[in-house]
Amino acid sequence: MVNKKLIWPSTLHHLCLATRNLSAMTRWYQNVMGLSPQILADNLVWLSGSQRNMLLTRGTPGTLRFAAFSAHDDKHLKNIKAHLIAQKLHLKKLSSPLFKNSCFAFVDPDGNNILLGLPKSLRGKREILPGRLQHVVFATNQLKRNVAFYTDTLGFKVSDIVREDTTGEDTACFLRSDKMHHSIAFFRAPKAKLDHFANEADCWNDIRDWGDHFAANKVEIVWGAGRHGAGNNLFIFVRDPDGNSLEISAELEMFSYNQQPRIWSHGPRPLNLWGEAWMRS
Ligand SMILES: [Fe+2]
Repeated sequence: MVNKKLIWPSTLHHLCLATRNLSAMTRWYQNVMGLSPQILADNLVWLSGSQRNMLLTRGTPGTLRFAAFSAHDDKHLKNIKAHLIAQKLHLKKLSSPLFKNSCFAFVDPDGNNILLGLPKSLRGKREILPGRLQHVVFATNQLKRNVAFYTDTLGFKVSDIVREDTTGEDTACFLRSDKMHHSIAFFRAPKAKLDHFANEADCWNDIRDWGDHFAANKVEIVWGAGRHGAGNNLFIFVRDPDGNSLEISAELEMFSYNQQPRIWSHGPRPLNLWGEAWMRS
């Protein structure tokens, strides 16, 4: 029997990020993000931690090879797979060294690879500072189509929508796959690409400690500190050596399964209640 809640509850487990400079990126994620590198193959590095894991592979900088979501358990994973096959979604063979063999992948309307699976028993060392990998955000020029795919086909729930008052057109959508406000989001933009990914720390004091840690490593905060309207989370943003935007966040809202979406007027406030916003469109 197919689980009516589909993807719920699943969490973003790891990302596989492409780069042309494996050694510089590995050093940065080791020194700045506190992860422990292991070379798994010629072009594959695993950066492990107790709360966050990342794979680096050779490829076009600024692109994701895949985003990997962890299902609740084996039965849940099988139910999602059965549902997607019944929906005639093409499932891809794509594997991750961090997931068991039962994992599978599919491609969203923008061509993003999403991997679903169950983590192997990983014993990463404790990181310098807390912050579990929590959400990934994509820019898209077909926001409506993506939101329909993630909700109708996969069962993501909409938490917040940002909408233009004048046109009625949606400019951003935040979607949840468990009780956390969003694990994936989409922003309207001229073209599809990775927008940013976020690590959720435990509290506001962690953001202070991250700020001091970035300063000690001469990593500039490029946006924030601020508080997002959508999600109500505190945030700072930095960039890695490839220019990927990385967010440290805290106090992200929690929503129940049945909570109805909120609608925000397009403008700075949904993105930053405290001040200047990074407007994608
Ligand atoms: Fe974010």
